[in-house]
Amino acid sequence: MTQGTADFFSPLRPEKNNMSETIVIPQGITGKKEKYEALLPQIRALVNGETDVIANLANIMAALKYGMDFFWVGIYFVKNDALVLGPFQGPVACVRIAKGKGVCGTSWEKEESIIVRNVDEFPGHIACSAESKSEIVIPVFKNGKVAGVLDVDSDKFAAFDKVDETYLKEVVQLIESIL
Ligand code: SME
Repeated sequence: MTQGTADFFSPLRPEKNNMSETIVIPQGITGKKEKYEALLPQIRALVNGETDVIANLANIMAALKYGMDFFWVGIYFVKNDALVLGPFQGPVACVRIAKGKGVCGTSWEKEESIIVRNVDEFPGHIACSAESKSEIVIPVFKNGKVAGVLDVDSDKFAAFDKVDETYLKEVVQLIESIL
């Protein structure tokens, strides 16, 4: 561990000798904008040079979960008429979500990001965990169509805002580039 940093994650990539081996959020950083800015280049480095989609997505979710201290973060993929659970970090989650259902299915149907400050106030919210209090969902596009959604849950109310939307969209752009 480097002094003055939080070294929380060391994927074993012995063939790589760069920052992708370890993700570090400097201890002095507390603001989420600064955390995202510290994390994003490291997430890009983490997937750089690796072509396996599942491995990359799994590492992206782990980096987001532990880097941003999210309660749950994962990706759902459009498969026929449903969203199906993909790589995630956090408690076990619902596997299939129909189009238009829940926050995820609504984001898919509307093809837009959704920020939910209080999940109890979102009609049809699907509670995979009773501890989830707020949520943000960002659609992932491929060939002009929704191919999936990135879903992030917090165990605190009103955890997400435009800052999260901005930076998570950058993560989604990276995901779109590797799908
Ligand atoms: N709450 C989501 C379901 C997925 S879980 O949060 C992981 C929804 O309403 O679509």
